[in-house]
Amino acid sequence: MSDKQPSPEVRPYEPVQAPNLRRITANAIRRRKGKDAFAVVTAYDAPFGRFAEEAGIDLILVGDSLGNVVLGYDETTPVTMEEMIHHSRAVMRGTSRAHVIVDMPFGSYQVNDDEAVRNAIRLVKEGGACSVKLEGAQREADRIRAIVAAGIPVVAHIGVTPQTAGLGPGYKVRTNHDRLLAEARAVEEAGAYAIVLEVVDADLAAAITKAVSIPTIGIGAGPHCDAQVLVLHDLLGMYPHSPRFAKRYAELGSAAVDALRSYASDVRERTFPSAQ
Ligand code: KIV
Repeated sequence: MSDKQPSPEVRPYEPVQAPNLRRITANAIRRRKGKDAFAVVTAYDAPFGRFAEEAGIDLILVGDSLGNVVLGYDETTPVTMEEMIHHSRAVMRGTSRAHVIVDMPFGSYQVNDDEAVRNAIRLVKEGGACSVKLEGAQREADRIRAIVAAGIPVVAHIGVTPQTAGLGPGYKVRTNHDRLLAEARAVEEAGAYAIVLEVVDADLAAAITKAVSIPTIGIGAGPHCDAQVLVLHDLLGMYPHSPRFAKRYAELGSAAVDALRSYASDVRERTFPSAQ
């Protein structure tokens, strides 16, 4: 045996970042049904993913609202798989514990089950998604079944479905009790582990929450859902207008403009940078 000591450069392997073994699972979210109400928020990049996690929010949605609030589109329909993957990766890099749901963009699951499964797999493999969300409950129940069968947890989304808002009653509050209840049961039966209820009458959302065994996540659907979700830019006041159901917890839009104005003025007046 050689008594030669290893050279100082030879060090045991140390991962740069500890492997992430603690992401909250879809099953853990499902078990929150009927317990304390919990908050969900959208995020689209690493810093805001990290802020959400630091605030104790551990269910984050990379929503296709990305199109409206970050990419400058008027609707969600132009959002592509590549854009969802790009932003999902950023949120994953900024978080370590949160369960990150990623929206399937319009066109990624409408054609058939195979294409839906292939795109859901891309969101997981390339985007790092912990689970995926898709809108609808008619044909989409089959899509949910197929994606779950491929091993990917799915969140359903019923009520107002922005990707197809142009087809039906648009953004009007949904009140059709029998229809919504049937849709909630259909997506539950198909294997969804949670359901977003968007702009649904509060009593109807309460009835659905009671009728299904999976958590309901309300947005404009009253206080009786198992969880609430808000679009980050609405709750932080980044735009002049927010939907009537969204509470503005900050006014970051005007704070940002004020800060930028002060910076520009300091540069003009040569008070920034200070002399060295
Ligand atoms: O895209 C999104 O942000 C959403 C929420 C409004 C639920 O689907």
